[in-house]
Amino acid sequence: MMTSILRCPVCREPLPATATGYKCAAGHSFDAARQGYVNLVLAHNKHSKEPGDDPDMIRSRRRFLDLGYYRKVSDGINVTIARELSDLPPGSGTTLLDAGCGEGFYLQRLKEALAQGGAAHIPIAYHGVDVSKFAVRQATQRDRSMAWFVASINDLPFLPGSLDIVLSVFSPANIPEFARILKTGGSLIFASPGPKHLNGLREIIYPVTREHEAPSITEKAGELFAPATVARITYPLELTGNQTIMDLLAMTPYCWNINLETKAKVAALDRLALDVDVELRVFRKNQTQPAAPLP
Ligand SMILES: C[S@@+](CC[C@H](N)C(=O)[O-])C[C@H]1O[C@@H](n2cnc3c(N)ncnc32)[C@H](O)[C@@H]1O
Ligand SMILES: [Zn+2]
Repeated sequence: MMTSILRCPVCREPLPATATGYKCAAGHSFDAARQGYVNLVLAHNKHSKEPGDDPDMIRSRRRFLDLGYYRKVSDGINVTIARELSDLPPGSGTTLLDAGCGEGFYLQRLKEALAQGGAAHIPIAYHGVDVSKFAVRQATQRDRSMAWFVASINDLPFLPGSLDIVLSVFSPANIPEFARILKTGGSLIFASPGPKHLNGLREIIYPVTREHEAPSITEKAGELFAPATVARITYPLELTGNQTIMDLLAMTPYCWNINLETKAKVAALDRLALDVDVELRVFRKNQTQPAAPLP
């Protein structure tokens, strides 16, 4: 069995598992919810009553993703991670985190793909974290054997240097925090919208279509990470049925910004042709530079 890689959110010491959840040596304890996940967000650190995606957004995301429209994105992530795993030294157990896992679509498919593919012999401990308890509840339903936590990417409940792989899909990223929890040489897999992503929907929402701004992730990665590979997954989609179109809208940041008139326009659609365009970047964590000697 792998030792716990978790960190107590209160005292930041190791947080081993107990029969009912987790408890650190100082006695801070966190019981698993009935559904099987563990909430590690401290009440005084919550910036809103229910942070992250709300139940309606999670339901939309689940309905849409389960229709398979983003399966190719997930397949691309799975192939990329399988490749990263094949570079790891054999022997020790592998630890993997989906940071901002939402309702668990990508992590569940990753586990299935790796179990069937070349990495079947590698024992992998899967962890999913999201700040939305509704999302994590749904994720737990997908696969109770993985470790699901309600926690923020800004205060991840993992010990320094404890993870081999961190995956971040369309979610907020905290680069220094990802660097803290990754082992030296560990991989950050970062999926973000490419320049054409959701063109077709964007033309309806914005009179003048704007290109996505290039993600600043590479700049942010700075000296903490070395960029390794960039791949682009792009294909056309044809959505039918208004529920599916509205579900996609609810998954996008546009949902927050559009006015009622534009929303009504989308609500009247029964068919929508659009592009999927996702950029998949791999970064490897650099060796931490030793502090400069004092003069
Ligand atoms: C666009 S969704 C992507 C979810 C999932 N990766 C997917 O692609 O289906 C962004 C997710 O980030 C979560 N989120 C937002 N802020 C967060 C934070 N500070 N820490 C952890 N998760 C956060 C939201 O609750 C939401 O589930
Ligand atoms: Zn503690």
